[in-house]
Amino acid sequence: MSALAVRGARKHYRSGDSLVRALDGVTLTARRGEVVGIVGPSGSGKSTMLLIAGLIIRPDDGSVEIDGIEVNSASADIDRMRDLRRRHIGFVAQKPNLIPFLTAQENVALALSIDDVRATDARAHAAELLRALGLGHRLRSKPMQLSGGEQQRVAIARAVANAPALILADEPTAALDGERGRQAMGLFRQIAEERRAAVVVVTHDPRNASQMDNVFTFEDGRIVSDNPRGSDW
Ligand SMILES: Nc1ncnc2c1ncn2[C@@H]1O[C@H](COP(=O)(O)OP(=O)(O)O)[C@@H](O)[C@H]1O
Ligand SMILES: [Mg+2]
Repeated sequence: MSALAVRGARKHYRSGDSLVRALDGVTLTARRGEVVGIVGPSGSGKSTMLLIAGLIIRPDDGSVEIDGIEVNSASADIDRMRDLRRRHIGFVAQKPNLIPFLTAQENVALALSIDDVRATDARAHAAELLRALGLGHRLRSKPMQLSGGEQQRVAIARAVANAPALILADEPTAALDGERGRQAMGLFRQIAEERRAAVVVVTHDPRNASQMDNVFTFEDGRIVSDNPRGSDW
């Protein structure tokens, strides 16, 4: 069973009088235990794909299946999409969007308290994830006191905290240096393997390719290649 199956997704945006075809019939699947990459030039539809997979926007056409649950995107109601998203998906957006008045640890723990995890357990698990991302010394810092890269790592910890079946990340290593980027990819790999999650990462960093089970290359809203283990990439 796939953690994610997007089939035949089309999406256009209206921009003034013209129509931008952001996705033109894209099919992409990711199984539990896999880390899958999405690469391609700017404007090729990568972020749109992630927003559709994350049930944040609806495709004009096509279907989305999350962890075996078919979401009839055209007619699914907003509450149901939100509920599925909360239970099954961890999303790392391009901007970290942390809650400014909470510490790093509290931002991560908040994602856990949703499922009635005891507050002390949530805090301990949050600290453990932040340590794995090299932020053990930043637990009590507020977002304003953190660099862009540090905020991004807090957002990664928050996205994976709830052990979702599917983790989606839009250029999560863009603000990170080589070592921190490797650490973040290493955490994704570990979570995919240990928790049997599927991880889909938009990246422009070829150094991440060796960590991927499959790499989809996007061009003009279509997938132009699909390389197991990112072999020719
Ligand atoms: N909200 C929007 N309104 C209008 N056009 C958009 C919107 N979002 C994205 N686009 C356009 O859709 C295309 C695909 O964008 P996007 O999915 O963000 O690509 P990528 O992430 O690969 O850079 C681009 O031409 C972009 O300008
Ligand atoms: Mg993008």
